[in-house]
Amino acid sequence: MTDYNLLAEQIKALAEDEPNYIPVLSNASAIIYDAMEDLNWAGFYLMNNGSLLLGPFQGKVACIRIALGKGVCGTAAGNDETLVVPNVHEFPGHIACDSASNSEIVVPIHKNGKVVGVLDIDSPKLDRFSEDDKIGLEKFVQMLEAVISFD
Ligand code: SME
Repeated sequence: MTDYNLLAEQIKALAEDEPNYIPVLSNASAIIYDAMEDLNWAGFYLMNNGSLLLGPFQGKVACIRIALGKGVCGTAAGNDETLVVPNVHEFPGHIACDSASNSEIVVPIHKNGKVVGVLDIDSPKLDRFSEDDKIGLEKFVQMLEAVISFD
């Protein structure tokens, strides 16, 4: 099981040097991709002109813009809720960026109570993300929210 408290402390320490969202989210995607098993994509989409724009990530080339309410990312952002999808092929409107993806978790990121983006993680394994992963990744995102600067 991934030590999410350790990952949160790592990103906190990195952000102390430079809180700008570009290096913080870039390093956050690297930390997650490195620390979690069975992933094929980990990264961020950020709110931009009313839709989600591709941000820092690890993995294959991904779709650049996702409308709110579309796919797993757009649904999680639109409803402001974490989505754990055990089988993406059964999720209506799932956007397949990498055909290797079989399960996914998306966690909204907030600033001043509003959704400013999402953390999106994909796995080639069905049912990869447990309730413990959800709790741990939500804590990781809470740390991101606390240390990051979007200015
Ligand atoms: N699967 C996502 C699209 C983003 S890629 O997985 C990187 C979705 O349906 O929102």
